[in-house]
Amino acid sequence: MIATVQYEKVRSARPCAFLREASLCDGKTLSHISTTEHPLRQSREQALPKYSLAQGKEQAPAEHSLAQGKEQAPAEHSLAQGKEQAPAEGQDRPVVLELQDITKSFGETGVLKGISLRVREGDFVTLLGPSGCGKTTTLRIIAGLETPDSGEVLLEGQPMGNRAPEKRSVNTVFQNYALFPHMNVYNNIAYGLKLRNVPKAEIRERVTKMLELVQLDGFEKRMPSEMSGGQRQRVAIARAVINNPRVLLLDEPLGALDLQLRRQMQLELKRLQKKLGITFIYITHDQEEAINMSDVIAVMRDGRFEQTGSPSEIYDTPKTSFVANFVGSANVLSGTAASVSGDEIVLEHSCGTMACRKDGRPVQPGDRLTLAVRGETISIWREQRSAQALRGTITEKSFVGGMLRIAAALEDGTEIIVSRHGINFDLDIGEQVYLEWPAQAAVLVDRES
Ligand SMILES: Nc1ncnc2c1ncn2[C@@H]1O[C@H](COP(=O)(O)OP(=O)(O)O)[C@@H](O)[C@H]1O
Ligand SMILES: [Mg+2]
Repeated sequence: MIATVQYEKVRSARPCAFLREASLCDGKTLSHISTTEHPLRQSREQALPKYSLAQGKEQAPAEHSLAQGKEQAPAEHSLAQGKEQAPAEGQDRPVVLELQDITKSFGETGVLKGISLRVREGDFVTLLGPSGCGKTTTLRIIAGLETPDSGEVLLEGQPMGNRAPEKRSVNTVFQNYALFPHMNVYNNIAYGLKLRNVPKAEIRERVTKMLELVQLDGFEKRMPSEMSGGQRQRVAIARAVINNPRVLLLDEPLGALDLQLRRQMQLELKRLQKKLGITFIYITHDQEEAINMSDVIAVMRDGRFEQTGSPSEIYDTPKTSFVANFVGSANVLSGTAASVSGDEIVLEHSCGTMACRKDGRPVQPGDRLTLAVRGETISIWREQRSAQALRGTITEKSFVGGMLRIAAALEDGTEIIVSRHGINFDLDIGEQVYLEWPAQAAVLVDRES
């Protein structure tokens, strides 16, 4: 179907599926779920020209390809501009924050083991990792609340050394709001400007603008105790961005909100970030949140960045089994390379054979390899349909988040999770099946080269 799409909204419907809603020219809304990021992602929420939704496949028009679709970096950094400023796609924006090989221990325990990162102006960067992997420590080091044992933080090219937190052009928003309970909304937001002796009239103008931006106009006189969690967090965000920090640090700011409100706030925060053009460093342990909001995700594990890249790079080409499993719960399987032809590898497994893409990496028959394959790309059959298939038995069926989740056990006990749209599935628990996927759906992980 060819349609003129007025806008598209992207949100993830379930772990790593993108539910898009497009309003068509006749006013109808069209929903579509896919498991890949759309190439138009960078320009979402903006008016889009025609693109076609054909057989569930998305085809971006050439003029919107990422290569050409360079968007303007925010030239200046002021709230006054108030224009929609999408982060530029190219690598030509200045690096606003750099972490150089930072280490940090508490006592005997190494918490950060040499982390490096370059963040470009206007990017929404998320540190994603399980609890205890060092995310908050990283943020506190950027803010100057903690000193690294070695390595350096550079803000706009300047080494921060031991510079005090208030002398760095960063602000932080924490999970627990941290509003002044005895001040009303207006005074909470105005606090930083008053400290800097900004003239009263200017404070009024800027606070009013901020209240509009976070959709709290009319709430000036409310006390924090008279507001909901979501509203209080909006005040905290307004208070943190009113000083025009170069970088805003957010430590699980939506963690205390219920799921529905969190989803709504994700969209609002992303919109605000684009509008202000402020660089965000955002912490979460929630992969959906990271995929929904980020330009760049740094997946963190045990004090290291395991992989850094765009959401689609992280999702489609995970480099390690940890990333594959943590982001989107991919199935991770090992086997021995039996043959290589073109970009396809056939691997032997004790329960059959598997196909995998090679991605130009050096692979020889006999190599022991590990691959990751997403549940939504696996098909299940009573009879073997393609040359590469694994034998298993269905052990579980459940309906989760709009998807049917099917668990199958291979003969060696390995569990494989398959997910698919719809609730109709005519195979029963206990049935013997074949699990198959195209070579292009599986990616090699845990390989140095
Ligand atoms: N001030 C501290 N003293 C001792 N250990 C700490 C301190 N701060 C953090 N840690 C430890 O460092 C590790 C990483 O913590 P943190 O950065 O808060 O992780 P995350 O934010 O990813 O959950 C944890 O094991 C935590 O217990
Ligand atoms: Mg933390």
